[in-house]
Amino acid sequence: MHSSKSALLAALASLAATAQGRLLIHLPLNETSGTRANDWSGSNLHGTYVNGPQLQGSNGARLDGVNDYIQLPNNILRNLGSLTASIEVNIRPEQTGQYFVYGLGNTARETGFGYGYLFATGDPQLRVGITPTHWDFEAEVRTNRPLPRNIWKTITFTIEAANGGRLGLYDDGRYIAGRTNTLPITAPGLINSGATVNNYIGRSVFQLDKYLAGSVRNFRLYDNVLSANEIAALHRPQTQPTQPTQPTNPTQPRPEDRVTTALTSISIPNSDNIRGNINLPATSNGLAIRWETSDSSVVRVNGLVTRPVGRDATVVLTARVSTDGLLLPLLG
Ligand SMILES: *[C@@H]1O[C@H](CO)[C@@H](O)[C@H](O)[C@H]1NC(C)=O
Repeated sequence: MHSSKSALLAALASLAATAQGRLLIHLPLNETSGTRANDWSGSNLHGTYVNGPQLQGSNGARLDGVNDYIQLPNNILRNLGSLTASIEVNIRPEQTGQYFVYGLGNTARETGFGYGYLFATGDPQLRVGITPTHWDFEAEVRTNRPLPRNIWKTITFTIEAANGGRLGLYDDGRYIAGRTNTLPITAPGLINSGATVNNYIGRSVFQLDKYLAGSVRNFRLYDNVLSANEIAALHRPQTQPTQPTQPTNPTQPRPEDRVTTALTSISIPNSDNIRGNINLPATSNGLAIRWETSDSSVVRVNGLVTRPVGRDATVVLTARVSTDGLLLPLLG
């Protein structure tokens, strides 16, 4: 029973509305046509697909590695003292050279070099950083391995400038490391006093760098450092292969494993920023779910939402799943 605990906590976080930070931008990058990358955060900070990436719906935007990228609106870092940036990326084996998965900041006109920016890259090691000026002032989190190819990875970067500064890097929702050098951490909003025009997904702020040869989806930017549970919830486990109708494996999964799988595979679209009614699934992994709500005046167990006027609300939805007499609460 103890082994299922962390899965339960992660699932819980994905069902709670965001408490620690406001979602400023959410680009699912799930369009199938057009040039607009819609922002679902409610901020109207839409992106633009440039040079015709292949738009593959829930498989994200496939960038060709030649010149495709997504342009984000100007000045998106303005006023931010801290942030959480998260993206799902699937790099292809053909990726070479220096490149950014995303770069937010400015390019110096005279040199074509980045000047004041934050970034994530997968090579030669997975690395994130922020600098108020040149690359040699990058406060960074550097790992010891590159991003793997041909697999979706959720990369989350947290920056806090206050209290001596703090950086965090998370791989598939799990904390990897904090800052690995001693350079000062700039508040993102202080980069060029908030005026940034080279805000890109799939492109570096250094003109001579390579473009991203990979697919991207679910870029999110929050105005604060999210909690560990909230960051864990940004990672969606890859959808499991469908179960064969006649199990060929003679060993049946243990009931508690079935329950854990059922709980961890529950997902609620947009749970961090709920604007309409929620579709609360009635079953998961073949098991019935019983829903409970901490505040039925905001969210009812049938998913009907009454948005509170003039404030955000955090409602904890509890899913209970049981099998063979075993009852596991998602939130105890
Ligand atoms: C794109 O993602 C948003 C937010 O998750 C979702 O509401 C919408 O239905 C998706 N659109 C497509 C075409 O899948």
